Amino acid sequence: MAASPQSPPKVATAQPGATFDRLRRHLSRGVALAAESMGNGAVEAFAAGASITLSDRRTALDFGSYSVALLGHRHPGVVEAVHRQLATMPTSTRALANPVTAEAAATLVDYFGGALPKVHFGLNGSDAVEAAVKLARLATGRDRVLAVRGGYHGTSLGALALTHHPGLRAGLRGCVSQTVHLDPFEPAAVMDEIARGPVAALVFEPVQGENGAFPLPTDVLHRWALDARAHGAFVIADEIQSGLRRCGERSVALAEGLPVDAVLTGGPLGGGVMPLSAVVCTEVLYRPLGADPLLHTSTFGGHPLSCAALPAALDAIEGLADHGRSLADGLANGLRGLHDLHPRMLSGFRGRGLLWSIGFTAPHMAGEVIVRLADAGLLVSPCLSDPRSVRLLPPLTTTHAELDQALGILDSALTDVARRGTF
Ligand SMILES: Cc1ncc(COP(=O)(O)O)c(C=O)c1O
Repeated sequence: MAASPQSPPKVATAQPGATFDRLRRHLSRGVALAAESMGNGAVEAFAAGASITLSDRRTALDFGSYSVALLGHRHPGVVEAVHRQLATMPTSTRALANPVTAEAAATLVDYFGGALPKVHFGLNGSDAVEAAVKLARLATGRDRVLAVRGGYHGTSLGALALTHHPGLRAGLRGCVSQTVHLDPFEPAAVMDEIARGPVAALVFEPVQGENGAFPLPTDVLHRWALDARAHGAFVIADEIQSGLRRCGERSVALAEGLPVDAVLTGGPLGGGVMPLSAVVCTEVLYRPLGADPLLHTSTFGGHPLSCAALPAALDAIEGLADHGRSLADGLANGLRGLHDLHPRMLSGFRGRGLLWSIGFTAPHMAGEVIVRLADAGLLVSPCLSDPRSVRLLPPLTTTHAELDQALGILDSALTDVARRGTF
């Protein structure tokens, strides 16, 4: 990582040793070990835009953060909106109407074009997944849900039923509800399952983030969605990672003209500052909640402090949409160049917009490269369902100079690994 001449004053007082000790003793030894190795003994201290400053004053570009930092860190418009709400009423009584929550819902419905007029707010992505599946099951009176091989939808018990990763489901078979995971290359998969019994919902990510940024074949998704709809099953697009222009569009599913009953959104919905997620859906899917609003509640659902971030976040995202497209072109070209330069090491690269992965020919290399990149000043994410790949999630606020810097770090790290002959 590079030395940062202008680190904020607080950075000097951070005590990394105490942090790792507390993490080990009170949280997870595994997390402590991984974070110690990623930061080379330093901890995170300060962030602005795509840049992170560590406790030892080195800086790194954040192309990871599991897609949450779509606007980079501490986007000024979002921070200001949250400060304003903090100074007025951050928490709702839940007995009185809160205008900030209502405005956030209306803004979100407009953002997705108005055809999905109902909103249910949560904090995490899995909150949205759980709520949508519960609504689909209640609205249809059916139990079975269809998801997709390689898909990731969270790890809470309801969401885990949809997540494909066998390691995450091990030991919990009896707790997770009935889900069938479809082969994404089988256009007749939905019809085959419907022939086996009634289906409540089809849930898919248009671009599977944790599965190495894999865009599902659009023609298959069209056929699946039409088949599901024709047989009374709801079609739910989980865009917690791919939406909000991460992959170029507000919603990939809506932009592709897929007939969906719900779009699930989260991650950067709170501007990378506040936790916020939402189910944005049709009246019909929402009907069970319309009939009984207490059917699915959570204390912080629609939290005004989180909701205050939403209009500012969507505003900022739209303001950066054109820049995002030109960054996406630069990133795709850069990865093509890297693939040409390191053909023995890289098996390929894939993705869409600002969500890409690079795959390695040797299975152990992704982890090694992630640590090496962090040391050289570039933070990236692993892929939970595709351990051979490394995921790149640059913020929309990234400058072209920062993108070039990141591609240069990648090239050097790959060259270095090749020179050491670990391949
Ligand atoms: C597509 C998708 N759905 C659901 C989730 C779960 O979100 P969370 O971890 O916020 O519960 C994630 C998390 O990365 C995701 O990528």
